[in-house]
Amino acid sequence: MEFLTRSERETEDLGAKLAIKLKPGVIIAYRGGLGMGKTAFTRGIAHGLGYPGRVSSPTFTIVQEYIGGRLPLFHFDWYRIRNADELYNLAWEEYQDRGGVCVIEWSEQAPEVLPSDCVFVTISRVNNFNNFNDNLNLNNYNNDNDNNGADNDNNMDNIRRILVEGMEMD
Ligand SMILES: Nc1ncnc2c1ncn2[C@@H]1O[C@H](COP(=O)(O)OP(=O)(O)OP(=O)(O)O)[C@@H](O)[C@H]1O
Ligand SMILES: [Mg+2]
Repeated sequence: MEFLTRSERETEDLGAKLAIKLKPGVIIAYRGGLGMGKTAFTRGIAHGLGYPGRVSSPTFTIVQEYIGGRLPLFHFDWYRIRNADELYNLAWEEYQDRGGVCVIEWSEQAPEVLPSDCVFVTISRVNNFNNFNDNLNLNNYNNDNDNNGADNDNNMDNIRRILVEGMEMD
């Protein structure tokens, strides 16, 4: 299933909507580069699960645990991971058996470690026409680059295409 969002807030809202459907043991692997909105989507999931605290990329700690919502949420950032051995040293498998949800930023760093039934969330910009070769209709969007607000809902730079595979959202 595919979605378009126009702001960080809309991406958070989509994460919160997905959170309603989450069950213990689900693993969500993000794909998509720097600043695409993986942490924003995760913040939405955390808040959708009822976790009230702060959510930011655990780039230096690799994993951050958010406990207190409907399910525990384990937020990984594999940006600094170089190979699967490093993950086994961090006991990554043990998190999968703790009755929670795992979400993984930069899952591309060790795709061979992901289980075959994981949920993929792929985020991309749609205003890069070199990477954009599907049939989405952009005519609904106003290409207003004159504004100074970086998070203006009508700024093309802020549009994200979010593909959710391996899970129903409705
Ligand atoms: N539609 C959108 N969805 C999400 N973020 C957006 C959107 N439009 C603009 N942004 C901006 O893009 C940035 C997304 O940051 P975020 O930390 O969520 O990305 P990330 O994918 O986790 O990056 P990193 O790989 O560095 O961890 C924020 O500055 C946010 O305001
Ligand atoms: Mg991040």
